[in-house]
Amino acid sequence: MKFEESEVLQHLPKQFFASLVAKVNAKVATGADVINLGQGNPDQPTPDFIVEAMQQATADPADHKYSQFRGMPRLKQAAADFYKREYGVTLDPEKEVAILGGSKIGLVELPFALLNPGDTMLLPDPGYPDYLSGVALAQVKLELMSLSSSNQYLPDYQQLDPKVVERAKLMYLNYPHNPTGAVATPQFYEDTVQFAKKHHIGVVQDFAYGAIGFDGKRPISFMQTPGAKEVGIETYTLSKSYNMAGWRIGFAVGNADMIEAINLIQDHLFVSVFPAIQDAAITALNSDQSSVKSLVALYQKRHDEFYAAARKIGWEPYPSGGSFYAWMPVPKGYTSEQFADVLLDKAAVAVAPGNGFGKGGEGYVRVGLLIDEPRFTEACERIGKLGLF
Ligand SMILES: Cc1ncc(COP(=O)(O)O)c(C=O)c1O
Repeated sequence: MKFEESEVLQHLPKQFFASLVAKVNAKVATGADVINLGQGNPDQPTPDFIVEAMQQATADPADHKYSQFRGMPRLKQAAADFYKREYGVTLDPEKEVAILGGSKIGLVELPFALLNPGDTMLLPDPGYPDYLSGVALAQVKLELMSLSSSNQYLPDYQQLDPKVVERAKLMYLNYPHNPTGAVATPQFYEDTVQFAKKHHIGVVQDFAYGAIGFDGKRPISFMQTPGAKEVGIETYTLSKSYNMAGWRIGFAVGNADMIEAINLIQDHLFVSVFPAIQDAAITALNSDQSSVKSLVALYQKRHDEFYAAARKIGWEPYPSGGSFYAWMPVPKGYTSEQFADVLLDKAAVAVAPGNGFGKGGEGYVRVGLLIDEPRFTEACERIGKLGLF
């Protein structure tokens, strides 16, 4: 028998970065010493105290049972306590926190949970490509908010087509921003709340890189903005802050109606997350956050060293405020993809072409600072020898 995928699945976006991985693997297969700066997978291990909490939890039979459908109340309490302690934000753990098996799940299921087919949602361009999967699964219409360096990669709400704004029901933001590392200001978030209220648009702020800010400036949470809870939610993940990307645990906080919609769809899709992972997440969130401080110090060091090495060859980075990425301009005469191909072919350095994040990423490549210093300095030296800057 032959089975065809449903029309919805047939319309899922192509995974742009699958072709990058294939190109990198082909280069590695030639025996080349490839320096891979193309990925976004944290390289450091999960802190020991979290691994130990998980080991203890897996030995506890209570954690072998089904979780409560909507996650452990004590994890929701830990998430609420975390937001109170770290951002001064008060949340009702039962009504304003939803547990997610990684924030990607929440971000992909949200359009389905909140919109009807044909409704309009707004996404940032450039932006995290997985948002597009949610658009396709929910069969909603996509409109892009173009972001550019001239406006610090923040959407300019005045520039959006009023007809599109009128139709839009949901919008995504992501600061610190993947791929550019741009950060949001309090004023921008205040404008966002006004804009959302005026046009009745739900806001989803993806805070995946919330812990990682440079030069002592900690990224602010959207939830700190007066009125934010009336218009939207913020998703948070343990993947980056605690190097727990493989564990699949995160949560969403904020507007009670939106949180209820997430919980409702998840009642039908999952039985929450393995309880032992939830227990380990509680340990992480309730900890003194010294592991996060050390991690941020490591990323700051890499950021400074990479910027210095790039500047040495005349390659001027975009001044990013957070995340573990550097956003690097492409020399004249190249598209992002052509430049990434040249770096891989001629210097055995893999970077992510900016157009993989949308048209707005054209003219740049994204460098992930997820290896240690000698390697990315070497990458810059190899690139410098190509004489393109
Ligand atoms: C902007 C952004 N949002 C969300 C995610 C998903 O994170 P997770 O599903 O691990 O919580 C990522 C992962 O790379 C990301 O870059």
